[in-house]
Amino acid sequence: MYICVIFKKQLNNSEEILLKNPYKHNGTITSTVLKKTSSKFTKKAYIESYGCQMNFSDSEVVASILSTNDFEITSKPEDASLILLNTCSIRDKAEQKIRKRLNDFNHLKRINSKIKIGVLGCMAERVKHKFLEEEKIVDIVVGPDSYKDLPNLIEKAENNIEAVNVILSKKETYSDISPIRINSNNVSAFVSITRGCDNMCTFCVVPFTRGRERSRDPNSIIDEISSLQKKGYKELTLLGQNVDSYLWYGGGLKKDFSKASDLQKKTSISFDKLLRLIAETFPKMRIRFSTSNPQDMTLEVIKVMMKFENICNHIHLPFQSGSNRILKKMNRLYSREEYIDLIKKIKEFIPNCGISHDIITGFPTETEEDHKETLSLMEYVKYDFGYMFSYSERPGTLASKKYKDDISLNTKKRRLTEIINLQQKHSHNKMKSFIGKTMCVLVEKDSKKSNLKWSGRNSQNTVVVFNKENYKIGDFVDVKIKDCTSGTLLGNAISYSKSI
Ligand code: 5AD
Ligand code: SF4
Repeated sequence: MYICVIFKKQLNNSEEILLKNPYKHNGTITSTVLKKTSSKFTKKAYIESYGCQMNFSDSEVVASILSTNDFEITSKPEDASLILLNTCSIRDKAEQKIRKRLNDFNHLKRINSKIKIGVLGCMAERVKHKFLEEEKIVDIVVGPDSYKDLPNLIEKAENNIEAVNVILSKKETYSDISPIRINSNNVSAFVSITRGCDNMCTFCVVPFTRGRERSRDPNSIIDEISSLQKKGYKELTLLGQNVDSYLWYGGGLKKDFSKASDLQKKTSISFDKLLRLIAETFPKMRIRFSTSNPQDMTLEVIKVMMKFENICNHIHLPFQSGSNRILKKMNRLYSREEYIDLIKKIKEFIPNCGISHDIITGFPTETEEDHKETLSLMEYVKYDFGYMFSYSERPGTLASKKYKDDISLNTKKRRLTEIINLQQKHSHNKMKSFIGKTMCVLVEKDSKKSNLKWSGRNSQNTVVVFNKENYKIGDFVDVKIKDCTSGTLLGNAISYSKSI
């Protein structure tokens, strides 16, 4: 609460500065837009984020905590006395990338030994103290639930005392912190609504690195969205490992809901109620959410989506495998048939809903038959787009303990290529089906290829590029689609959109 009050006070005198992103690295992000308050910062911090949207959102919480502790956020690591990497552990490759990046920063530390380097997020939680031994240049290790301890840990590191906090919390949701939007287009923002995950998919490290599932106070969610709206934001994405499982009953873990009082149960707020509340309270805001888990997505949520124009017609619905045998081994809590039933309901209630997926290929024991079932499920749904991965064994997960990683690299690669090729075909067909249609696009930024064109997204989350004319970033524009490439729709602006 203390942090929140101070930060709000600073924001009243705030001035926005736009910085360039001069420091190139492997596909991740440096801070570009930050709030400079009237109070003088004495130190500079640089934050780089990897992995899921949740991590990017957490970095905005970290930026806020640092800003109340004399740190200005810079986009130049060479200017910073504190370098933080917000890390991802989901696959081995993600961790390799971080280790390589830490090596890159070693040379800065050689030039200036006062620089402190911190590792945040899932990899910090997984590797814990060992980080300080394995990566000699790391000074601070902080897990996802301990960011409020950062000022204390930074002080410890400055005094050359071991600075590690990887305690997972039953309560922490950072609801009292106003995130500082970094790398923002000032149009779209993430709003985190749940933390942790109770699903225990056998391949996944997240339940171990992000702890048990808890939901955020709806009042603080509404407050955050209100403040975004006042600043001119037009779109928000509600975030959680499993948003559909959102359940507010006054605080506490999701798994303890059964122990709640009758009154708490009666007045509890589930995801469909939260979604409705947000859609009704902010009719001029576009609303997205991610990620949905098939077993938790209810008909009520689909009906709320159908009812409110300002909720985007897009559902990210990972299925991981089309084979019931593999789904069982993955401890995914739905069958192929139940998944298909859910898809049927979505298509029945929201016929133009964009649907995307996550797939893992080469899970232990996966046969050609299992693989074909994944392809056939893709054929059935015809997803708009998706994220496709080869299985990567993660230490400590149930799958690593129970099953041998027995699918050869070659087979994993070949199956992944088949999956990607099929998805590309479906994505391209989907894009072509938009040609001739007029759709509402929220203008986000310059098109990558031409600064005479705007780039934005339609409700289904597909990128749309069109001539700028007199439209501005943040406008909702009706665009008629004329053509497409494999990943982008190309169109002409018709008029300001009235649909939102
Ligand atoms: N190997 C490969 N992919 C994984 N994912 C999660 N864990 C693993 C793993 N061990 C994928 C899943 C999940 C997405 C975020 O990452 O598809 O939905
Ligand atoms: Fe990992 Fe499964 Fe939780 Fe997603 S739902 S974060 S895949 S355990």
